Amino acid sequence: MRLWGEPKYNSGVEPVRIIIIGATGDLAKKKLFKALFGLFSAGKLPEKLDIIGAARTPYSDSEFREYVASYIGDKPNLSVFLSHCRYIAGDFTSPQGYDKLARVLALAQECTHTLWYLAVSPDLYAPIFECLSNSGMALSCVTKNGKSSWVRIAVEKPFGRDSAGAEALEQLLCASFAEEQIFRIDHYLAKESLENILAFRFGNTLLEPIWNRTHIQRVHIQLLEPFGIEGRGAFYDGFGALRDVGQNHLLQMLAMVAMEPPNTFDADGIRSARSAALAAVVTDQHTAESTVLGQYASYRTERGVAPDSVIDTYFKTVAYVDTPRFAGVPFILEAGKKMHTHTVSITVEFTPASALPAQGTSAITFSLSPKETIGLRFMAKHPGYGFTLAPRELSFAYDDGTADTPKDAYEKLLHDAIIGNRTLFLSNSEVAHSWRFIRTLTDSLKGSVPVVYTDGTTGPVV
Ligand code: BG6
Repeated sequence: MRLWGEPKYNSGVEPVRIIIIGATGDLAKKKLFKALFGLFSAGKLPEKLDIIGAARTPYSDSEFREYVASYIGDKPNLSVFLSHCRYIAGDFTSPQGYDKLARVLALAQECTHTLWYLAVSPDLYAPIFECLSNSGMALSCVTKNGKSSWVRIAVEKPFGRDSAGAEALEQLLCASFAEEQIFRIDHYLAKESLENILAFRFGNTLLEPIWNRTHIQRVHIQLLEPFGIEGRGAFYDGFGALRDVGQNHLLQMLAMVAMEPPNTFDADGIRSARSAALAAVVTDQHTAESTVLGQYASYRTERGVAPDSVIDTYFKTVAYVDTPRFAGVPFILEAGKKMHTHTVSITVEFTPASALPAQGTSAITFSLSPKETIGLRFMAKHPGYGFTLAPRELSFAYDDGTADTPKDAYEKLLHDAIIGNRTLFLSNSEVAHSWRFIRTLTDSLKGSVPVVYTDGTTGPVV
């Protein structure tokens, strides 16, 4: 059964323009170019496609195409894809950038569906929203066939630096865009294996009766990466791990486990169910003592990082979900850079069996990276004479090589933004609830300094 994902417009006919502000930045080169090329190669973009890179670097169109090609690599059809790409140099935090863009777009004399993609640091959102709004380019127009074109805006996480900042940005954004035009990104929502938790939980009857505080004793959510900040010091040193991945990816992983069955399996139903789960996330009176913040030893020597920085590159904390289903069950949230392992997973641990007590408990682990799997740890009889219990594993590999599988979450996000499906994008309330939780946490941690940990280890020793 297909629940969503059907294109809402004929992608073969109606032209689309994608304007990437920050086209020479980290996100564009690591993710967006490859994702656009992937969609293009899979025939999921319209034939009339205009990809406009916008940034300060003074590239010509051909220099930009070379730049894009260098991040995609030598692939069949690359030159056709590149022929859809062009570039406009300018400062897009000031009106001049938009004047220039407007002049170039006016030359094309075409009213086209337009997706604005903000691939810039969140610090630049406010001036961009303002300039874009004042430029008149956030308004839709009437196409040749008399239909109204759409204008949409995709904005990356973290949306703001804190609750107040996010609210102020939201006001600016809403001044020029209606909610259905806004696509707030947390790319974790588009990860196949995270979406699959919905299928696993709600598409099977075996879990529902035990998916609650009576049978679940703990949930451990981890995003541990062996690498550091990879040249992103200028951004990272203003944000840290809690804001970079805690406010968004980890809380969305939590929401997938904690949410109630959506009233309807569509964008509104799923977004509301996620939002209700996030609204219920709380700390407890022990949070301040039990939270650990860390910083990897070589962090202060990274480019763009202050020599006396007290930014966290690791955190471990405990959240609770104050709902009848989960009240009292600890959700351990842990994320870190330069760790001993690459592990992105959610482990749901069940309460010990009372009839046949064993050392250890059964658990389900949803692994998102480096492999996408679901593992079930259960107790089995140890083979041989006597009767002892030992933990064993059943494992399911999510990626079965199905040809239509998107290669990366960004392919899915771009695809869904173009077809207008907002299921995998954050609502304003999800953003607000997540920031509220982070604020409670940071308020309780005021003045704490991260504990330095050796690169490549399990984190701070406390
Ligand atoms: C990004 C963070 O949003 O997510 C990075 O800014 C982090 O710091 C990354 O490394 C993790 O995403 P993924 O898809 O590689 O697990």
